[in-house]
Amino acid sequence: MKKVLVTGGAGYIGSHACLVLLENNVEVVVLDNLCNSSLESIKRVEKITGKNISFYNADLMKPEDIEEVLQKEKNIETVIHFAALKAVGESVAEPLKYYENNISGTINLLNAMEQHKIQNIVFSSSATVYGNAKTVPVDETAPTGPTNPYGQTKLMMEQILTDCSKAKNLNVTLLRYFNPAGAHNSGLIGEDPEYPNNLLPFVQQVAAGIRPKVMVFGDDYETPDGSGVRDYIHVMDLAEAHYAAILKMSEVKIYNVGTGVGYSVLEMIEAFKRISKQDVPYEVGPRREGDVGILTAEAKLIKEELGWSAKRDLDEMIQDSWRWQSQNPKGFRA
Ligand code: NAD
Ligand code: WQD
Repeated sequence: MKKVLVTGGAGYIGSHACLVLLENNVEVVVLDNLCNSSLESIKRVEKITGKNISFYNADLMKPEDIEEVLQKEKNIETVIHFAALKAVGESVAEPLKYYENNISGTINLLNAMEQHKIQNIVFSSSATVYGNAKTVPVDETAPTGPTNPYGQTKLMMEQILTDCSKAKNLNVTLLRYFNPAGAHNSGLIGEDPEYPNNLLPFVQQVAAGIRPKVMVFGDDYETPDGSGVRDYIHVMDLAEAHYAAILKMSEVKIYNVGTGVGYSVLEMIEAFKRISKQDVPYEVGPRREGDVGILTAEAKLIKEELGWSAKRDLDEMIQDSWRWQSQNPKGFRA
């Protein structure tokens, strides 16, 4: 049986990935300092799968914490590295916090992996590394150019991992996620932000009456209805991409993880209204600084090389978000 260390495994995407790993009989060890998550997500994954996770409340900023985990957990084959800070706006206001946590945390992890001879790592990168893409859909060879410190940390970590791969024969898979959304269809785990930064959790909270209205950030883009278009990927599809990745590790590989299909903000709001049967009031406001009009993935490569493609459509994504929201109005805090 494979044994995988999941950093950030209590978080939104990490918890869904742990679920998929357990369902595929992988032994799961989670390292998370719970700075943006709750132990409840781990308990619920255990409840859904009927399997145990070895959980460590540990901080990647503390090498001794990582060492303790790796001392206790022998035979880890692969690391899936989700742990990071991810709020774009906060990264602009507090860049050092982001460079410190994301970059130093990753370096500490890589040092410990080298010490313990762990040769495989799958890394959570982001479509944010493309910045203002000139043409869409973007493929993996498109120029990079992040527009904020969070995105810079992702690109720098990609570079660090690439250099380590060359120097140390580390197998590295860099997954560039587009816009993760949705939840597991049990309604037991999902995204739990106190204040949502992303569109779908915000729309979800408006539909639930927690917030009065959605602010649509601009309707004057060169898109069919003028609002921003993104490639939303169901978090369970994304989680399954990680399982596909650990089965086929090699020297550095970069894959976009998206669907190739784009939806606009107004389309997302309409779809949410239709599926939740709730009103979703909105107002059109100015563009958000740093936003691009349209960003979608060319996702052929991951299909060709890892055999993975997204299976779930937009309706399923919204149904699952709404189930999670309705059953857990206070998220994991209830
Ligand atoms: P999340 O905040 O829910 O999960 C991240 C987890 O990492 C949290 O549980 C947090 O407590 C943990 N963590 C952070 N710093 C840590 C540290 N120093 N030591 C130990 N644990 C630490 O975020 P998510 O949405 O699940 O994102 C997972 C990864 O995917 C992140 O690397 C993120 O940058 C990347 N990503 C996310 C999105 C998105 O829209 N959600 C898109 C692209 C890439
Ligand atoms: C989607 C669309 C907004 C909120 C971000 C990060 C990226 C990655 C994914 C981590 C855009 C519009 C949004 C709202 C709106 N994260 N919008 N009203 O900006 O594509 O990507 O999350 O790696 O790095 O930048 O996602 O969900 O914020 O926005 O109109 O209240 O919805 O303008 O067109 P984005 P998002």
